[in-house]
Amino acid sequence: MNLRVFVIGVVAQILSGLHLTQPTLGIHPFSDLVDRQFSAQRLDQCFCELRGQVDECCCDVETVDLLNVNYVYPLISSLARRTFFRFFRVNMHRNCPFWHDDGRCVLKDCHVEECSEEELPGFIKGEKAAVRPVIEDCDSVSEEEVELSTVNRTISTEQREIFTNWQDYDYSEDNFCEVDAEQKNGQEELSYVDLVLNPERYTGYAGHSPHRVWKAIYHENCFKPQDRGPLTPSLPLFNSSLLQEMCLEKRAFYRIISGLHASINIHLSAKYLIPGGKKTQFGPNLNEFVRRFDSATTAGQGPSWLKNLYFAYLLTLRAVVKAGPYWRAYQFYTGNQQEDRRTKAHVLRLVQAARSCSDLFDESMMFAGNSSASLKNAFKSHFKNISHIMDCVGCDKCKLWGKLQVQGLGTALKILFSNRKKRPLLHLNRMELVALFNVLERFSSSIHFLEMFREIKAKTQSGAIERQISKTEL
Ligand SMILES: *[C@@H]1O[C@H](CO)[C@@H](O)[C@H](O)[C@H]1NC(C)=O
Ligand SMILES: *[C@@H]1O[C@H](CO)[C@@H](O)[C@H](O)[C@H]1NC(C)=O
Ligand SMILES: *[C@@H]1O[C@H](CO)[C@@H](O)[C@H](O)[C@H]1NC(C)=O
Ligand SMILES: *[C@@H]1O[C@H](CO)[C@@H](O)[C@H](O)[C@H]1NC(C)=O
Repeated sequence: MNLRVFVIGVVAQILSGLHLTQPTLGIHPFSDLVDRQFSAQRLDQCFCELRGQVDECCCDVETVDLLNVNYVYPLISSLARRTFFRFFRVNMHRNCPFWHDDGRCVLKDCHVEECSEEELPGFIKGEKAAVRPVIEDCDSVSEEEVELSTVNRTISTEQREIFTNWQDYDYSEDNFCEVDAEQKNGQEELSYVDLVLNPERYTGYAGHSPHRVWKAIYHENCFKPQDRGPLTPSLPLFNSSLLQEMCLEKRAFYRIISGLHASINIHLSAKYLIPGGKKTQFGPNLNEFVRRFDSATTAGQGPSWLKNLYFAYLLTLRAVVKAGPYWRAYQFYTGNQQEDRRTKAHVLRLVQAARSCSDLFDESMMFAGNSSASLKNAFKSHFKNISHIMDCVGCDKCKLWGKLQVQGLGTALKILFSNRKKRPLLHLNRMELVALFNVLERFSSSIHFLEMFREIKAKTQSGAIERQISKTEL
């Protein structure tokens, strides 16, 4: 017994020794370890609301976790990599309609893009000197941030040709429906982005600019109790105790936004920049996660944000299940018949699996009261406005994922709540499908990442206990 403890102790010493000799970590390794142990102790606190029924829903958190880990996550994460779903067509160059450049250099103005390598004088090459902001009173944006937040627009020539076929195919379909606003704006502004090349992760985008975006969303676009003046506190942006005074639909609106916000923050913490490595590498950062969701650092709100993720997940999954008949009739055109068939079979497997949980979300509860028509209009216009706010995001990669996820949630809401009497046939365009399934994939992987953080906690703590034993024994 003593021998075992001794061996564990020696191994732990060797391991922590390795830790100490690794100068690339950038942080004092001891304090990093202490931080991680502290974070591990706080993790349960972040998860304290993750049990029982999901608010406004029928399922409980435990059921969702099982459904996600066993069925939804494996299916959706491979589905999102299929040709049909991995290319998102987006306009990244719309101006922010609500405020002028906020003193921060909008990254598209900072890019090297305008000026190719050959055009640069030899001594600048490779130095990124051309990244210097053109606008004079820009906040300085670090080179690292420019690099991490730039969208990789690489698309193979083959794929580019196939896109032309997609367009021809899409136009020949159901062209009686309204053309969406992005298409009206002119072809040249829209481009395809390969989502697999541009994973949602840490970009370094922080400070005034993102705070302003979220503040506009929570303070000016989320609902608040009628007799309330403007919301003032800057942190947290929305006091969830206000929800008690609001009707179901307005609470749901807030939970969707909050769930999306939580999911984005989980992705940033789960794919955080690992400091000091030679190559840019990303991995989970427990401290960052705990900082973002601990009730001590979020005025008591963090744990409820995590629960709102479950709400947003169930609502999106319900939309995918509800549109099952639509998928069955849909072609999933990629130009390769075999791939089209496989994609459809894959989607239908997902629907089938999700259906095993009978009460994901009951959309008939919403917009059922007397003032439902005006409430629905307000809900719609607030949500649409949020999609315009996404054009104000000052980091290209964050904007890409922001636009995609808001559009995906908009598609889910369209499936769940559009007026079937007025418009009996559901019509979705290709990008609505891409956005819908990708936002579901984001939420599903966020729930998966929560489990990953639990495992990291267990490892960190068992490591700590072994070290404690070894200290007392030796
Ligand atoms: C973009 O992705 C492609 C394919 O993985 C890669 O070859 C290229 O170096 C990337 N470009 C940048 C700027 O990272
Ligand atoms: C849209 O959002 C902006 C920015 O928050 C806000 O100023 C404006 O009042 C909103 N408009 C509507 C119609 O909600
Ligand atoms: C949220 O509102 C409640 C009730 O009005 C209040 O007691 C609480 O202090 C508020 N929390 C924050 C962080 O402002
Ligand atoms: C709907 O309106 C009717 C008649 O105006 C009223 O009796 C009923 O209580 C209202 N229902 C709700 C849920 O507000």
